[in-house]
Amino acid sequence: MYNEIDFDIIDTAAEPPAEEPARQYYFIAKCREWVREFERKNGCLPTACVTTFGCQMNARDSEKLAGILRQIGYGITDSENADFVIFNTCTVRDNANQKVYGRLGELNGLKRKNPDMKIALCGCMMQEPTVIEKLKKSYPFVNLIFGTHNIFKFAELLNTVYENENSGTIIDIWQDTDRIVEDLPVERKYPFKSGVNIMFGCNNFCSYCIVPYVRGRERSREPRDIIREIEKLVQDGVVEVMLLGQNVNSYGKNLDEPMTFAQLLREVEKIEGLQRIRFMTSHPKDLSDELIQVMKESKKICRHLHLPLQSGSTEILTRMNRRYTKQQYLELAGKIRREIPDIAITTDIIVGFPGETEADLEETLDVVRTVKYDNAFTFIYSKRTGTPAAAMEDQVPEEQVKKRFDRLLKLVQDTAREQTAKYQGRVMEALIEEVNENDSSMVRGRLSNNTIVHLPGDASMIGKLVNVSLDQCHGFYYIGHAVDSAME
Ligand code: SAH
Ligand code: SF4
Ligand code: F3S
Repeated sequence: MYNEIDFDIIDTAAEPPAEEPARQYYFIAKCREWVREFERKNGCLPTACVTTFGCQMNARDSEKLAGILRQIGYGITDSENADFVIFNTCTVRDNANQKVYGRLGELNGLKRKNPDMKIALCGCMMQEPTVIEKLKKSYPFVNLIFGTHNIFKFAELLNTVYENENSGTIIDIWQDTDRIVEDLPVERKYPFKSGVNIMFGCNNFCSYCIVPYVRGRERSREPRDIIREIEKLVQDGVVEVMLLGQNVNSYGKNLDEPMTFAQLLREVEKIEGLQRIRFMTSHPKDLSDELIQVMKESKKICRHLHLPLQSGSTEILTRMNRRYTKQQYLELAGKIRREIPDIAITTDIIVGFPGETEADLEETLDVVRTVKYDNAFTFIYSKRTGTPAAAMEDQVPEEQVKKRFDRLLKLVQDTAREQTAKYQGRVMEALIEEVNENDSSMVRGRLSNNTIVHLPGDASMIGKLVNVSLDQCHGFYYIGHAVDSAME
């Protein structure tokens, strides 16, 4: 494990080892020499800021980047006025890309004031050749660019930057990989909860989605590596894990000894000291009865399932390549609600997919009313170059999409409010996550069903499971108070 490594005894005068992760440990040790030199010159350690765009996968990758930076000797800060800034980018919708370009302009301003500042870019957006061309042309002040497949090489790439101070942007992008490098440093954002990758990539090729192109083919981590990581996290004080994958229900198919996601969950459940298990995301086409059974029997798996619908129209679903019908989705959601009462079902919905009609939208609204989502993320369709949907005719005019989006948003908000209010007056267990930013006499907790509750408390409660009386429902969250478990 990396935290048992003494980087100071690594011989950096020797040749770098060929195998991983030893090779990266060697480069961490080498980068530490640059940091010491910085400290001698400036009388302080350099600072680094990791900014994340996009999903939970990216958030977890950022923790890995921060872990490496910490081992190198950087002080980690949230301020982009730092000596090293890295943007971990997302490209799932065009507005994600636009945000990065905008923020890069601001960074350039900061770099003019601090010419020694280094800027790096990584993540999904960097896997797109057109992005790299634009960056090379218009953003020459960026020092380092790498992609999603070689993130494990971060220390080595950073060393290259240090060794080639004035050689322009260093770019290293891989097209794909089947490698998974274990045991690299990680710095968690929260001491008591953590994401855990169980698989990488996606094989589904939903016709609107860029993810399979920028994250590569699906590959699962070995169960023993996952279990070992979670056991280590629990020893470090983690009580809740979120198992991460683009389609966790197809976990294990490509392992030498195949295993289902439900079987993996049973193994994770056995880990002593672990109190809560979450996972994301579940593709409806792969959600098995075995999984519903495991969830039902489990004391640790949270009462929350994120089950992306995307559209309620079977015709649109077919063109989205989702491989389920409206009817199949409704049957699945109904079965889950019957088998696991109190479960929260949340979803993702796209409005304005090419060819979508008013009648198709009605089908989507019908599903929202029937399933009664506890929460839903709604997105306006964004054309992603290279995906099959980008070449489809009948792109829906913006004006019409906006109207449909507003109708959908109103309905999902109404449904979510109604669902949240169901728990009024109940006592439920909440994991206390943080002290309220604006009122330090209040803390924020999360129920098993993912609903937020605010209650009087202090920092000593963070990371603890507390029974909370849900006194007042305020739309999507509760105000409550802690109760003695004996009072339940
Ligand atoms: N693997 C996950 C989610 C990946 S992206 C899944 O299959 O559910 C998260 C969400 O972004 C998707 O569920 C989808 O609703 C949305 N999304 C993906 N591509 C999009 C696009 N081109 N335009 C708008 N929304 C999109
Ligand atoms: Fe994209 Fe579909 Fe894969 Fe999710 S399952 S990441 S929406 S291709
Ligand atoms: Fe975005 Fe990449 Fe996640 S495109 S949504 S950060 S997998």
